[in-house]
Amino acid sequence: MNSYQFFFPLICCFMASTYLKGIQGADVSNRVESLPGQPPVKFKQYAGYITVSESHKRAFFYWFVEADHEKAASQPLAFWFNGGPGCSSVGVGALEELGPFFPNYNGTGLVRNKHSWNKLANMVFIESPASVGYSYSNTSSDYSYFSDNLTAQDNLAFTLGWYDKFPEYKKNELYLTGESFAGHYVPELAQQILNYNEKSTGFKINLKGFAVGNPATDAYSDNLGATDFYHSHNLISDETYHKLKENCDFAFDLPVDYSLHNATCLNTSSYALDVVMREINIYNIYGPHCNPPAKSGRPQFVKRMGMVQLAGVNPCAPDNVTPYLNLPEVKVALHARDDINWTQCSRVVGANYTIPDYTRSILPLYRELLTKGIRIWVYSGDTDGVVPTTGTRYWLKKLNLPVQTAWYPWNYSSQVGGWSQIYENLTFATVREAGHEVPTYQPGRALKLFKCFLKGQSLPKFNYRK
Ligand SMILES: *[C@@H]1O[C@H](CO)[C@@H](O)[C@H](O)[C@H]1NC(C)=O
Ligand SMILES: *[C@@H]1O[C@H](CO)[C@@H](O)[C@H](O)[C@H]1NC(C)=O
Ligand SMILES: *[C@@H]1O[C@H](CO)[C@@H](O)[C@H](O)[C@H]1NC(C)=O
Ligand SMILES: *[C@@H]1O[C@H](CO)[C@@H](O)[C@H](O)[C@H]1NC(C)=O
Ligand SMILES: *[C@@H]1O[C@H](CO)[C@@H](O)[C@H](O)[C@H]1NC(C)=O
Ligand SMILES: *[C@@H]1O[C@H](CO)[C@@H](O)[C@H](O)[C@H]1NC(C)=O
Ligand SMILES: *[C@@H]1O[C@H](CO)[C@@H](O)[C@H](O)[C@H]1NC(C)=O
Ligand SMILES: *[C@@H]1O[C@H](CO)[C@@H](O)[C@H](O)[C@H]1NC(C)=O
Ligand SMILES: *[C@@H]1O[C@H](CO)[C@@H](O)[C@H](O)[C@H]1NC(C)=O
Repeated sequence: MNSYQFFFPLICCFMASTYLKGIQGADVSNRVESLPGQPPVKFKQYAGYITVSESHKRAFFYWFVEADHEKAASQPLAFWFNGGPGCSSVGVGALEELGPFFPNYNGTGLVRNKHSWNKLANMVFIESPASVGYSYSNTSSDYSYFSDNLTAQDNLAFTLGWYDKFPEYKKNELYLTGESFAGHYVPELAQQILNYNEKSTGFKINLKGFAVGNPATDAYSDNLGATDFYHSHNLISDETYHKLKENCDFAFDLPVDYSLHNATCLNTSSYALDVVMREINIYNIYGPHCNPPAKSGRPQFVKRMGMVQLAGVNPCAPDNVTPYLNLPEVKVALHARDDINWTQCSRVVGANYTIPDYTRSILPLYRELLTKGIRIWVYSGDTDGVVPTTGTRYWLKKLNLPVQTAWYPWNYSSQVGGWSQIYENLTFATVREAGHEVPTYQPGRALKLFKCFLKGQSLPKFNYRK
C-alpha cells in the first residue's frame, strides 16, 4: 500500500467555508477562480472533495463547471462518470471528451472546447470510486476491495454531500450520464437515489433520468456482440470467429483478451486482440493508424489477468492531461491533494474491483428502472470495438420493450448523425463514426444528442430526399 498512503495535510479551509457559507448561501471555499493557463470564461467553477465515508475518511474529488449560459442557475444539473473501472471523469471525461477545456498540445495550459456539454447543463465530473484520479481513502484496506455496491453507496453519499455544499441546486433537474463501465455505475446510482427518495421524509433528489454511452451492461450480450462485431467488420478471420464462438462462455469470457474458464478461448482472444487487431485502435476501429514505438499495442489498457479496463482513452493521442493535472499549481487551483500523483486510470481499482461485478448483468436493474418514470437513453458510438453497438442491440432485444418509433436515421447538420429507435421508456441512438468516447470523436453529434436527451425530445429525423 506504500505508494497509496498519504502523509501531507489536505489543503482545507473549514473556517473560511463556514464563514463564506453565511454570506453567500453556497459553499464557495471550493471556488476555482481560474485554472493555470485557462482562457477567460464567464461561468463559475468549483472543485474539491466530498467525504463519502466519515468513519473510513474516504473522499471523492469533483470538478463542477456551471452552465455556460446566461441563466445558469435554471439549467439542469448533470453528473458525469467515466468507466474502467478506475478511470477518471476529470481527466478523461472533462479534459478529453466533453468538458469546457482541453489541455493544449504540451499540457501546460487549456483551450476551449466549443462543444462542451456545460453549454446545456451544470456539469459535475466525479472521480469514483476511491483512488480514481484525486479521490482517496485514508483507510488503506479500502484499496483491497471494490465493488458495484460500494461504489453505488459512495456515489449516493457523494450526491448528498454535494447537495449540502450546493443547496441552491437541489431544485434543479438532475441527470446522470456516463460511458463504458459507468454502464454499471449510472443505473446503480439511479436506483440508490430512487430508494433514498422513497425513504426520505424530507429532501428528495430531483432525478429526471440518465443517459449511458457504449455502456457495459450484460456480459453475455456485450461479449457475443463484440465477437460478432469483429467478424462482421472484417477484423478477424472466419476461423478465429468460430474458435471464439466454440470455446468462450460469453457470460464470463470477454473476447477482448480474457477468459476465466477456457484456455482455448483465452488463447484465441489474445491472438485476435494482441496479434490480429493489434495495430488498430480498438476504441475506434476506423480511426487513423498509429503505432509510435513507445505506444505500440495497447499501452493505455491496464490489464488484469489479461483483462482490459474499459479505459476510454485514445492510445493514439499524446497524453497531455496527465502532465497538466500533475502540475503543482493545477492541484492548488483545484484544491486537490498535492501528494496524489494523478493518473488517468487507477491501477488499484483495476486490480481489486471484484471479478463477478465485471460481468454482472445490469438487465434486472433496467427492468426495475424502466417502470419508475425516469428518462433513459442509451447511445452508442458505432465504431467502438470495446463495447460495440452490436452487443448493446442484443441486450436491448432481451428487454423486449414495445417499439414506439421504428429505427430511423437522425439528422445532424444535414448528415445522418446515426440511427435511433424509441422504445417504451427507453430511447436508443447510435452515433455514426464515433468510437468508444462518443463526444471525443463526434463532438457536434454528441452535443445534439445530449440536448435532445435533456429536453426529452427525439432526435430529429433525417428527411429523405424525394
Ligand atoms: C509521485 O511521483 C513522484 C515522482 O515520480 C514520486 O517520487 C512519488 O513517490 C509519487 N508519490 C506517490 C504518492 O505515489
Ligand atoms: C485524510 O487524511 C488527510 C491527512 O491526514 C486529512 O487532511 C484529510 O482530511 C483526511 N480525509 C478525510 C476524509 O478525513
Ligand atoms: C507550451 O505551448 C505554449 C503555446 O501553446 C508555449 O507558450 C509554451 O512555451 C510551451 N511550454 C513548453 C514547456 O513547451
Ligand atoms: C489489492 O488488494 C490487496 C489486498 O487484498 C493488496 O495487497 C494490493 O496491494 C491491492 N492492489 C493494489 C494495486 O493496490
Ligand atoms: C448489494 O447489496 C445488496 C444489499 O445488501 C445485496 O442484496 C446485493 O446482493 C448486493 N449486490 C452485489 C452485487 O453484491
Ligand atoms: C473449451 O471449451 C470447449 C467447449 O466447451 C471445450 O470443447 C474445450 O475442451 C475447452 N477447452 C479447454 C482448454 O478447457
Ligand atoms: C496459442 O497457443 C499456441 C500453441 O498452443 C501458442 O503457440 C500461441 O503462442 C498461443 N497464442 C497466444 C496469443 O497466446
Ligand atoms: C413504462 O413506465 C410506466 C411508468 O412510468 C410503467 O407503467 C410501464 O410499465 C413502463 N413500461 C415498461 C415496458 O417498462
Ligand atoms: C437537417 O437539419 C437541418 C438543420 O435543422 C435542416 O436545415 C435540413 O433540412 C435537415 N436535412 C434533412 C435531410 O432532414
